[in-house]
Amino acid sequence: MTKLRSVVVGCGSHLPARCVTNATLAETVDTSDDWIVQRTGIRQRYLAAADETTSTLGTRAAQAALDDAGLTADDIDLVICATSTPDHTFPSTATQIQAALGIHQGAAFDLQAVCAGFVYGVSTADKFLSTGSAKRALVVGAETFSRILDWEDRTTCVLFGDGAGAIVLEAREGEGTSADRGVLTSSLRSDGRHREKLYVDGGPGSTGTTGHLRMAGKEVFRFAVGSVTDVIVDAFEATGTTADDLNWFVPHQANRRIIEASADKLGIARDKVVLTVDRHGNTSAASIPLALDAACKDGRIRKGDLVMIEAIGGGFTWGAALIRW
Ligand code: UT7
Repeated sequence: MTKLRSVVVGCGSHLPARCVTNATLAETVDTSDDWIVQRTGIRQRYLAAADETTSTLGTRAAQAALDDAGLTADDIDLVICATSTPDHTFPSTATQIQAALGIHQGAAFDLQAVCAGFVYGVSTADKFLSTGSAKRALVVGAETFSRILDWEDRTTCVLFGDGAGAIVLEAREGEGTSADRGVLTSSLRSDGRHREKLYVDGGPGSTGTTGHLRMAGKEVFRFAVGSVTDVIVDAFEATGTTADDLNWFVPHQANRRIIEASADKLGIARDKVVLTVDRHGNTSAASIPLALDAACKDGRIRKGDLVMIEAIGGGFTWGAALIRW
């Protein structure tokens, strides 16, 4: 039976101009290149300048994705921006990206699921496209986490970076089998009981300030490796596929040790794992589309490849989506 599929027709990304190495960070923070590399795999990150905001980074990434797809503003009728660091409390960053790109039709909204935001965004866009509610969607992950970091807290500030990535999804008819191109399935979860393990200690409705990121790193680590694989198993089961069928595993880029432990647990070969955490640090909702774009541009991900994306973020929120590219 034919089925509308959300097919990836373009991707793009954009990073701030300023690259900061671990050695440079160690000049102002009590840390070392050795510690950061050993515990996380991070070697450098990009940090936004004052005139680089979540919407400007997101706009550049979205424009690159449109160019890659050979499409223009007139072709897009849905913009979803996954972010936890919007330029303003409102209007949404998505509407600012929409305006900057000259898109005047359809709907645009932000989606807040922290580091899982891009997976949530892909899953949400897929619901619009596969039901015929929209024809082409831009799904953007854009963040300036440097603005919510406590630069006195070495346990968090060395981990994150800024950036943006985007994909264009287009509704196309498929056969309804796992051989179709497009988003084949997605699985989302959340459990708000874990709030205290990863949160920002401010907000418009509480302190009236932006606040700073707080994290119980070890507990997040344990949950990420121990529990998050459920959504990946769901995706395999829903599509009758296995780890052996995957061409690429593109997880949220928080920590090399988490990524490799998860891949090992799932039986996903290490050479199928796309790693960019060394170059980008943890860019929250931007990390997966940044990694997807890197692997597309260097020729690893090709049309027809089976790609699993997966992430966990504050809340906790977590999810996975299986995409035939
Ligand atoms: O994207 C959202 C999801 N977030 C994550 O997935 C992050 C998950 N957590 C992690 O990636 C890891 O837990 C961290 C990288 C945050 C920490 O690694 P760890 O192996 O769990 O280290 P730890 O927290 O147990 O700290 C070990 C030591 C401590 O010193 P003592 O108490 O053993 O003397 C820390 O004070 O390392 C110390 N330390 C540092 N040393 C140098 C903590 N941060 C630093 C630092 N530089 N930046």
